[in-house]
Amino acid sequence: MFPSLLSLISLLTVVCALDLDTNSPASVNGDSKLIAKGLLDYYAGSRYGGTIGMFDQPYYWWHAGAAWNTMVEYWAVTGDETYLDTTRQALAYQRGDKFDLMVANYSTSEGNDDQGVWALTMMAAAERNFPGPGDDHSWLDVAKNAFATMVARWDLQCGGGVRWQIFSSNNGYDYKNSVSNGAVFNLAARLYYNTGEKVYLEWAQTAWQWLWNSGLIDHESYRVYDGLDANDCSNITPYLWSYNAGMLVSGTAYLFAATGERSWDSHARNFWTSSKDVFFDNKVMVEISCQQDTITCNNDQRTFKGIYANLLGLTAEVHPGIADEIIDYLTASAKAAANTCSGGSDGHTCSLDWISQQYDGKWIGLGEQISALAVIINSQALKVHAAPRGKAQDQVPSNQAGLQPSLAWFTTLTTAKPTPSPSKSSSPSPSSSAQPSSTHPTSSEVATSEPSSPAQYEGGSDGTTAGLGLLAILGLSVLLM
Ligand SMILES: *[C@@H]1O[C@H](CO)[C@@H](O)[C@H](O)[C@H]1NC(C)=O
Repeated sequence: MFPSLLSLISLLTVVCALDLDTNSPASVNGDSKLIAKGLLDYYAGSRYGGTIGMFDQPYYWWHAGAAWNTMVEYWAVTGDETYLDTTRQALAYQRGDKFDLMVANYSTSEGNDDQGVWALTMMAAAERNFPGPGDDHSWLDVAKNAFATMVARWDLQCGGGVRWQIFSSNNGYDYKNSVSNGAVFNLAARLYYNTGEKVYLEWAQTAWQWLWNSGLIDHESYRVYDGLDANDCSNITPYLWSYNAGMLVSGTAYLFAATGERSWDSHARNFWTSSKDVFFDNKVMVEISCQQDTITCNNDQRTFKGIYANLLGLTAEVHPGIADEIIDYLTASAKAAANTCSGGSDGHTCSLDWISQQYDGKWIGLGEQISALAVIINSQALKVHAAPRGKAQDQVPSNQAGLQPSLAWFTTLTTAKPTPSPSKSSSPSPSSSAQPSSTHPTSSEVATSEPSSPAQYEGGSDGTTAGLGLLAILGLSVLLM
């Protein structure tokens, strides 16, 4: 008995050590699956009395949005359907009564940033062609509806912007922050890239101009500060958070991909250069404003690296000029993160500090699982994500929900057609509330700042054609796994 127990222990030790090889799909898929399982250990919705889509206390509604975004990407990259139904049910259940991510249970404390994080999750589900909810309210519709409610809150205090909070009774209503406005900008850029509807380009330009002129972005260093006091418009809170940098680098990269304009190219490059200097140490991602000896990251901040990793993966997909370097950094970070995922009773609990390259047991939780999973998955952004990236569309009917993403992108490759130009006549907005409010510059004012060259879809011209053969082989190899 004693020897067999020993061998069992040594077997467990081998199983627990996540030695990630980012060049091996089997390694990536295997490690991701263990970390995803650890993530879902916090899921309340699978337990008696738990709410579908929500995680255990102290995690809030917005954490759930970040978690499901990563689970959508997990599905898209690995093709593993173990959590497909769980993820789909969670997304469908938390859409809100009006399918705009204003969810009655949480809306009294809901901020624009919370709604924005969830809207980006719906956007990701649409972009990945994640199996739909099986009714008339697709992930894309929900992203559009949420966007419409967010921009309806745009006001001209301090020249524009949305506030942190939605309701004036909540602390933070007098604060205009980068993540709320960054989410508006990022969503607008991605909605335009995916639908070609001009109103989203206009909003992306409007949000950009305000962010750029508000003082929230340093014009030299391209650092993105946390927010400003909406009472005096000048008192900037200077904290640097990775997810804010992520919103800006990916938003500008999408706009470059959608318009071909050089200014978006250089903004995207500058945000990447800035954020790689701030948020990486020897290529390992770090939430620098709180991961220091004297400061500790709170429950929110411990999730930011996951959102940042997701946004960097998307950036690499749409901006070939900086893709290789982003992947290089994500790969080093993915290995470091995986090295920390050997803790807890399950043996695959991850810790916050990746620089140490080992599990330290100091900070563990949902944010750590989200972040480690996201960085590993997104280290694969070019190999796996690139092929299916195209225009978001309504999802496959639910009776095809079992379709493997790998099959989907293999099919996309073999039937690749030139992408159509955006329709100039497409109707602008999903609902009346998408129209700029009375305090917002009118459409015609915004239109005067548009580039003279028509917007082009560039999504298919980012080098994927040259890589078709390689991608097809990759596709086959995943299919055969
Ligand atoms: C709202 O709260 C009630 C009561 O806890 C719960 O049954 C329901 O599932 C919740 N709805 C959502 C969308 O979270």
